Amino acid sequence: MANGLDDVVAADTVLSDVDGAGGHLTIRGHSLTELAGHWRYGQVVRLLFDGFFDELPGDAELEKAIGSARTDVFERLQPMLGQLAPLDIYSAMRAGIALLPDGEALADALRLVAAPAVLTPALLRLTRGEKPLPPDARADHAADMLKMLGGPSTPALAKALDTYLVTVCDHGLNASTFATRVVASTQAGLTSAILAGLGALKGPLHGGAPGPVIEMLDAIKASGDAAAWLRGEIARGERIMGFGHRIYRVRDPRADVLKAVVRRLGSRKDTGSRETGSRLAFAETVEQTALDVLRVAKPQRSIQTNVEFYTALLLEAAGFPKEAFSNVFAAGRVAGWIAHAREQQATGRLIRPQSRYVGPVPDLVA
Ligand code: SDX
Repeated sequence: MANGLDDVVAADTVLSDVDGAGGHLTIRGHSLTELAGHWRYGQVVRLLFDGFFDELPGDAELEKAIGSARTDVFERLQPMLGQLAPLDIYSAMRAGIALLPDGEALADALRLVAAPAVLTPALLRLTRGEKPLPPDARADHAADMLKMLGGPSTPALAKALDTYLVTVCDHGLNASTFATRVVASTQAGLTSAILAGLGALKGPLHGGAPGPVIEMLDAIKASGDAAAWLRGEIARGERIMGFGHRIYRVRDPRADVLKAVVRRLGSRKDTGSRETGSRLAFAETVEQTALDVLRVAKPQRSIQTNVEFYTALLLEAAGFPKEAFSNVFAAGRVAGWIAHAREQQATGRLIRPQSRYVGPVPDLVA
């Protein structure tokens, strides 16, 4: 029995390849570094959807359609958000998405692409006692998400968020994508499949990790001794958030992409750069200490920095509170989930593995 399905190949995919030994990520034939910071998220949505929706328009048309989908989602769900606001921000977003039609058309898919980007700022503003701000259908997706948040939304911050959304858009058969494919394999609709992905992403071993990275940095700063704090966590059997990966045995390539984005933000005058810059310098010392402590504590396992460590600093600099980081992760990954759902239905069959019964055996009836 492959505990955790380690090394089990459960699907063929044209969507992405995670090279764990070499530390490379390929998305539909493009390396991550070709896409991140160079392609807009709307263009990467089209790249992922290509071949899976008959009526797929060109880049410009699709980005306009994503903008219209943001307006559609806001108009459909804004009246109900007040009732969801008492939930934690991730569960509230998930509950809002559950109210969307459960179809298979491109229009259904684009509403799902739009939903995390629209619901997250709206719910954050409601919890602060502020009215949600409507989307601007003509705006770029990442820029509009920041505008709806109501905080600083400079071109540099919009570019940083857009680069983040592209960087996390797809990543092989990770837990949330696998959950999405399982539900899609039953021929349930796209909303049902995405809700499965959202459920899996929430866990701290997966997409729930970036918020705790901020808590860790703050706790280490308060302790004044990074090595002692980290060794204490490990001695208590805790995981160091932002480190380790089931597939990468070397540094997650996304960590360096996002670290470079944070460094650029830290050097700019228009993004509160002083605190971003000093926060980055502190995080780099914590990162090195964590790698050293993990190397000693877990010699049998190569535990390297993963995508979540610098995600935390980027999303903090972009103005999101740590409790909403997983929402923003979902805003990027949703395009990959949808593409995998469509691929599973186009090329796969019902996913139904076997299990080995190890429970009590009934007495044989005489
Ligand atoms: C994501 O799969 C993907 O592609 C996911 C993702 C994506 O884009 O979809 O990349 C996004 O989920 C990134 C990971 C975010 N999670 C975290 O940062 C949480 C901390 N990381 C760990 O929980 C852990 O590294 C996992 C869960 C991510 C991966 O662990 P594995 O491969 O399942 O390994 P394991 O849990 O079996 O641990 C093996 C050993 C254990 O020690 P022993 O019990 O053998 O002594 O390594 C230890 C673990 O305790 N270990 C860690 C550790 N990661 C592994 N110990 C301390 N801190 C860590 N971070």
